[in-house]
Amino acid sequence: MNNWNFFREAVKNFRSTGAIARASPVLIKRLISAIPSHVPLNVVELGPGEGCITRALLQRLHPESRLTAFEINPAFVRRLQLNQDPRLQVLPIGADRLTDHLAEGSVDFVVSSLPLSMIDQPVKGRIIGQSRRVLKPGGQYLQYQYALQDYGLLKDSFPNVSVSFTLANLPPAFVYSCSLGLL
Ligand SMILES: C[S@@+](CC[C@H](N)C(=O)[O-])C[C@H]1O[C@@H](n2cnc3c(N)ncnc32)[C@H](O)[C@@H]1O
Repeated sequence: MNNWNFFREAVKNFRSTGAIARASPVLIKRLISAIPSHVPLNVVELGPGEGCITRALLQRLHPESRLTAFEINPAFVRRLQLNQDPRLQVLPIGADRLTDHLAEGSVDFVVSSLPLSMIDQPVKGRIIGQSRRVLKPGGQYLQYQYALQDYGLLKDSFPNVSVSFTLANLPPAFVYSCSLGLL
């Protein structure tokens, strides 16, 4: 799926997609650069879309890692399922059902490009709460956003939150890195 097809899908489903273009390579690098390549990890991706971050994660992750992706748009799910990498499992369900599929304290990284500002408060609360619960004590929740609107929610949910910013995306984006601070 090229950028034009992503744009068409985004216009058709603007409320759930919340973007007009895919994440740029610079933004993707910034988002996932803390994830180590040399050890097997259990990684979750929320809102993979057509898979630009998924592909970068699969390139980066250790051969024995697992990547579980939650995506609600059927067109994006069909596209993601073309990927034959045995490490990837694509679940065509909402990110608020994380704990139906992942045990508490079992995940090293949750990588999210969900449009948090466009998701209803109760659903968003469940997504962040469940992300927290599935993370290992030393795990991290990584998220990019176009505004700081949900900084408060993340700060209330995770003891450690750091934010960086990149102009190299359309539009420019903030990258959150959140951890439980238990290790
Ligand atoms: C901004 S797009 C991100 C696409 C791609 N990962 C990127 O960064 O360019 C947000 C994605 O989140 C998906 N999404 C929105 N709400 C969701 C939810 N509750 N659960 C899972 N996916 C969701 C949308 O369908 C869309 O694919």
